[in-house]
Amino acid sequence: MNLAVRVDKREAEAVRRKLLKDGVLDHGRAILEKRGIVEIPVTRRASPHLEYIGQKNPVYRPLRLSLETVRESLKEVIGEKARHLRRWELVGDVIVVNLPLKTPKEKEKTGRLLLKFFPRAKTVVNRLGIYDTFRQPRVEVLYGGKTETLHRENKCKFKMDVTMVMFSAGNLEERRRMAFISNRDETVLDMFAGIGQFTIPMAKHSRPKKVLAIEKNPAAFRYLWENVKLNGLDNVEVRLGDCRENIPKEKVDRVLMGYIFDTRVFLPYALRALKGEGVIHYHCLVRRGMEKNEESILRRTASSLGFKATRIKRRKVKSYSPGYHHLVFDVDVER
Ligand SMILES: C[S@@+](CC[C@H](N)C(=O)[O-])C[C@H]1O[C@@H](n2cnc3c(N)ncnc32)[C@H](O)[C@@H]1O
Repeated sequence: MNLAVRVDKREAEAVRRKLLKDGVLDHGRAILEKRGIVEIPVTRRASPHLEYIGQKNPVYRPLRLSLETVRESLKEVIGEKARHLRRWELVGDVIVVNLPLKTPKEKEKTGRLLLKFFPRAKTVVNRLGIYDTFRQPRVEVLYGGKTETLHRENKCKFKMDVTMVMFSAGNLEERRRMAFISNRDETVLDMFAGIGQFTIPMAKHSRPKKVLAIEKNPAAFRYLWENVKLNGLDNVEVRLGDCRENIPKEKVDRVLMGYIFDTRVFLPYALRALKGEGVIHYHCLVRRGMEKNEESILRRTASSLGFKATRIKRRKVKSYSPGYHHLVFDVDVER
């Protein structure tokens, strides 16, 4: 039954607010009005003082939620702070947001409300920042408890704990691109493997001979190892440690450098790992307007080590902060 509260138009807004506060608004159906009578969809009966009906002609809302809709509802529980909501990420069954919340009450209300928009989710966390070379997030749980989750994407499974490792929804397109960029003849080196964000889809879909995945953070490494097993991959070799100290003796065809801080420091190691020719996917954080400068650094470093960058293609992965972009340069090099 499509339960709704039937109310006079003049009282509708006050009732809607009350229902929202009680957490019984059904966001999956639209509020309807006909000749001064409003039907407000709800998930259950919450008050004996309201008139409930089964809607005859419910209008289902498209599943895609707009930021505005969520902000509007959040406004009811945390006021003006709701405008700080820029996006949310759904990682497995965990909703990740970034909001300036202070009191336990605000946090709980926000968590409860967000869960209503995502019925499949179980936990809501607030990401306060990401720290150090390990890219470890600082996270507080707003609602629910379990922060280890299984995220499915691109026919791959990624197990992780969102309080321990970084998984960015904004990099989805790049993960897709990496999945199909290699081939069965290649050997690939992933210098900053994380939990396998690139390694797993590439090993699964491109089926290279081998992906050698290096990760320095023991927490991320544990998930990397688990994810290789979880996805049934037999063409991945994992190593725990600093990529600079674990460059394989065996030369490779392609190097993934999925790390954006001071990536240039690691570039000589990537070049030395390559066969006579190959490709490097070089990620970095670049101030807008400085893209050509980064390209020159790439060319100069390659040439100082006896390589030539024969082709450089640039792609924006995402906006990072005002004026800064996360870019990836696909660099073809030969000796
Ligand atoms: C943000 S994650 C990125 C994972 C994946 N490459 C991506 O782009 O989605 C970067 C990872 O690099 C690891 N890392 C940082 N410095 C490293 C180093 N010197 N050697 C190996 N791993 C390193 C961090 O621990 C972190 O897990």
